[in-house]
Amino acid sequence: MSSARSLFLASCCLALAIISLTVVLKKWHLGLRETGFEDAAALNLDLTAEKLLQQLRERQQELVPFYATSHGQQTAEAPPVNETLGGTDASTTAGWGIGCSELSGMTVVDFLGAGYTKTVLKVVTQQGSAVALKSVNEQGSDMRSCLEDFRDPQGCQELVSFKLRKEVVLLQRLQHPNIVKLRGQCQDSGLVGGIVAVLEQGTPVQMIQLLQSPWEERFRVCLGLVRLLQYLSRSPLGSVALLDFQPRQFITVSGELKLTDLDDASVKEPSCRTDSDCLLQFPLRNFTVPCSASGVCEGLNEMRNLYNAYRYFFIYLLPHQAPTGLKPLVDRIMNTTGELKKNVKETLEAFEEVLHVYKSGLHLQNLPPSVIKDYAEVRGMKTAGNMEYRCWPSYEQQACVLAVHNALEAAHICSSHPQCTSFSLSSQKTWAGRHLASFRSGFSQLLPDVSSTVYLKSVKVSTATPV
Ligand SMILES: Nc1ncnc2c1ncn2[C@@H]1O[C@H](COP(=O)(O)OP(=O)(O)OP(=O)(O)O)[C@@H](O)[C@H]1O
Ligand SMILES: *[C@@H]1O[C@H](CO)[C@@H](O)[C@H](O)[C@H]1NC(C)=O
Ligand SMILES: *[C@@H]1O[C@H](CO)[C@@H](O)[C@H](O)[C@H]1NC(C)=O
Ligand SMILES: *[C@@H]1O[C@H](CO)[C@@H](O)[C@H](O)[C@H]1NC(C)=O
Repeated sequence: MSSARSLFLASCCLALAIISLTVVLKKWHLGLRETGFEDAAALNLDLTAEKLLQQLRERQQELVPFYATSHGQQTAEAPPVNETLGGTDASTTAGWGIGCSELSGMTVVDFLGAGYTKTVLKVVTQQGSAVALKSVNEQGSDMRSCLEDFRDPQGCQELVSFKLRKEVVLLQRLQHPNIVKLRGQCQDSGLVGGIVAVLEQGTPVQMIQLLQSPWEERFRVCLGLVRLLQYLSRSPLGSVALLDFQPRQFITVSGELKLTDLDDASVKEPSCRTDSDCLLQFPLRNFTVPCSASGVCEGLNEMRNLYNAYRYFFIYLLPHQAPTGLKPLVDRIMNTTGELKKNVKETLEAFEEVLHVYKSGLHLQNLPPSVIKDYAEVRGMKTAGNMEYRCWPSYEQQACVLAVHNALEAAHICSSHPQCTSFSLSSQKTWAGRHLASFRSGFSQLLPDVSSTVYLKSVKVSTATPV
């Protein structure tokens, strides 16, 4: 443990030394360029250069807490002590992940996205797997406004790079299933130039697309988000706030939500004298959190994250088409988060409760069990020559495929679709362990398939509807 810790400390010192050295070199570089000028113009240039240096210093300072915290007091959650922690050392990728040498053998196959600061490209490794490469966006507005202000391409490259450096350090320190995985890094890649983060590849979150997907998938995204917020509220770095919290900071990997943009994360909670110093402002609502005895707005970060989750995700994704039996639980979550009546931990408990009820089918207890009697069960068979019809929100575009808890729930659905005459259950399951059921209006033959069961609606439809 103690040798691991000293390794960690050594990495930190090295990293800081290198950051400082770059800044000193930078100063020397700017200093040289200024000589030879006189009077006002020179003074002006001098001031501009000084401002850029000031900003570089500030960015550097911003990184310090991420290297320095969480050894010492917070021993309970020690950081992953690892050779990878030498984040800013040009040579530290040896022995871990994908580094500069691996990158040189890769080819760019696609453009995945870009924002104010960074560009993301898809590349294929020599083993044939796809990864995402994040680098500084030379055409981005961060770079553009820096160049306008300072007219120093090299200095601006460095200034903007600090954001990606910060992200790499945070990705090393914060590890969670709902944070994109850092697969490697390179401080000066020939492939795209400058610092590069190598990430697992995903799909940018498209709200429109999510809105059209089954409730189960939308719930998964919200659940992943709350699990992430629970982790961030007690991370190895303390309570982390995501200052720029929007769907475009996230991707999905096989349906699981992952945070990819961390350059606007903050671990500071404001100091305060009274509760009114701890104001959380949003366009439509203001909240205050209590000022703690030690004079810190404790919980402000997690409450900010939670309300952002509510206004950017839950409102759109959760209530719409929620299963009837889950509506009361979902409505309660909407109300407690919309009013910030519960903290992140309590909200996560409510989400896990919904998941439990959903997985165990407890929300279906009121389904009349007799519906299944209208169907003949044929085990070990599948259908062929199907006459498909479409339904919403189907897992397949040209057919009606929905997730169900069991045959009874499927029978209930089939009986509510006028076109439906039969359905099959396969062994295929969703992330929540529910079965995929295919509904159809007809078929031409039955074929053997041990993993499938077909249910045929009997001809004497809805016999006894007593008048
Ligand atoms: N691992 C990934 N796989 C696929 N796409 C990704 C990945 N990481 C990021 N992207 C896409 O690239 C875009 C830009 O990445 P990122 O958000 O880090 O850049 P940024 O410049 O900080 O953006 P912004 O201006 O929105 O803050 C993201 O919005 C996302 O759509
Ligand atoms: C270092 O990090 C890698 C990748 O995250 C991990 O597989 C490995 O177990 C870590 N080593 C130690 C000593 O923690
Ligand atoms: C939130 O607080 C600010 C500053 O006190 C105030 O100007 C604004 O009107 C408040 N907004 C709402 C919706 O209450
Ligand atoms: C929560 O419920 C209360 C009482 O029913 C209601 O007045 C309030 O508007 C609800 N808030 C939200 C955000 O849904």
